[in-house]
Amino acid sequence: MSNEDIGAIILAAGMGSRMHSGVHKVLHPIGGRPMIHYLMDTLDHLGIVKRVVVVGADREQVEEHLPFAEFAVQKDQMGTAHAVYCAKAHFSGFSGDIIILYGDVPMVREETLMELVRVRRKTGPRAQQPAVSVLGFRPEDTGHYGRLLMGERGELEAIIEFKDATVEHLAIRLCNSGIMAVDGSLLFRFLEEVDNKNRKEEYYLTDIVRIARNDGHSAIVYEGTEDEVLGINSQEDLAYAEALFQYKKRLEAMSSGVTLMDPETVYFSYDTAIENDVRVDVNVVFGPEVVVKKGAHIKSFSHLEGCVIEKGATIGPFARIRPGTRIGEGAKIGNFVETKEADIGAGAKISHLSYVGDALVGAQANIGAGTITCNYDGFSKNLTEIGDGAFIGSNTSLVAPVKIGRGAIVGAGSTITKNVNANALAVTRASQKAKEGWASDFRKKNRQKRGK
Ligand code: UD1
Ligand code: CA
Repeated sequence: MSNEDIGAIILAAGMGSRMHSGVHKVLHPIGGRPMIHYLMDTLDHLGIVKRVVVVGADREQVEEHLPFAEFAVQKDQMGTAHAVYCAKAHFSGFSGDIIILYGDVPMVREETLMELVRVRRKTGPRAQQPAVSVLGFRPEDTGHYGRLLMGERGELEAIIEFKDATVEHLAIRLCNSGIMAVDGSLLFRFLEEVDNKNRKEEYYLTDIVRIARNDGHSAIVYEGTEDEVLGINSQEDLAYAEALFQYKKRLEAMSSGVTLMDPETVYFSYDTAIENDVRVDVNVVFGPEVVVKKGAHIKSFSHLEGCVIEKGATIGPFARIRPGTRIGEGAKIGNFVETKEADIGAGAKISHLSYVGDALVGAQANIGAGTITCNYDGFSKNLTEIGDGAFIGSNTSLVAPVKIGRGAIVGAGSTITKNVNANALAVTRASQKAKEGWASDFRKKNRQKRGK
């Protein structure tokens, strides 16, 4: 989709002081990624390339995270109209629609934005088109939102800010989300007429509705849903946004054929990709960059990030799969196993209590309980290579860099520091001695000493 005749101004100058955080509000994550990225993605999908982010407080933080956006600076927060006006220089000669968005209202849907523009444009020749279309919604709790005052013919007459509202106004259920689309050839002219003669002594963006009408233009409303215009002002709001996000991801997974045993206990990231016929048991967390292929089974209390789980593999319960891991087809990772930068071959088994990092494990290899790849010497990370069909006995330390050949067997309790050839046996533990009857003699002697 290409929408060169649509631009966007994204307000993100506010401090977000109610978050009580050193991290800029719009960078707090939802589903594991900074919230403002959702907005940028939406604009990407719509082909809206002209986008100006209005920054102020802690602007460096925001600028660093959005390398491809244009920025306008609002030094002092004098109100939403003033903030939008700060972007004026970026739109000289632009006569398309300008959509006004908020960095802390990140989940607005693509279709909603397109409709918002469409309803403004649809009504006949340009001179008769409404100059402004406002995204309205009917929240459960109308709270402190601005109210949309509608005329008899369905046109928007004015937006009344909460602080300036009368009791009659407050009874209106249709509220202002803040998001609007405005004729770009008129927007900055309207903004020049906004003053700050109101209770908050701020330049209200909402005043442009009145100004447009006084100028012979009209304004209309398009209604969206409450969940997509949810603003995030506090940690509580953030947690709520996360919950909504998780709810949607779970439905998405299930509707594509993933079985979630208890959906509310499974947590996804924005980019989790799970194929159908994957089963996910209770209490599983998918961090960023996880791909799970058909038929895999993720058992309870497992934590996965940055990994690919191939077809039919089994993970957990209680497994920790860290970045750079690929678990091959049909492989089995059991309880209390941690992997990192590890490629586990098809059908291999690491069933219990192991750490496998910076490792290549061959197909059908069997890694016994308590095996540790000693990959770090305090300075650098080293590779462990285990050949196809090798058998590593329980409680083995593999001191990397080291190679175990295909089909080799390592005896339990070994510390392996040198390469082992294919099909060889390597054992490093001391050989076992037994003295027959020694234990009973020992006990007898001691009992005699103590007179028992
Ligand atoms: C605004 C609307 C209100 C609407 C509500 C929806 C106005 C005057 N009112 O009120 O009708 O119901 O949003 O949430 O627009 N910002 C700046 N610079 C400023 C002021 C604000 O960048 O000088 C940014 C803030 O960071 C914030 C957003 O604009 O992300 C909204 O500002 P805020 O002051 O919270 O507006 P509300 O009073 O909530
Ligand atoms: Ca607000």
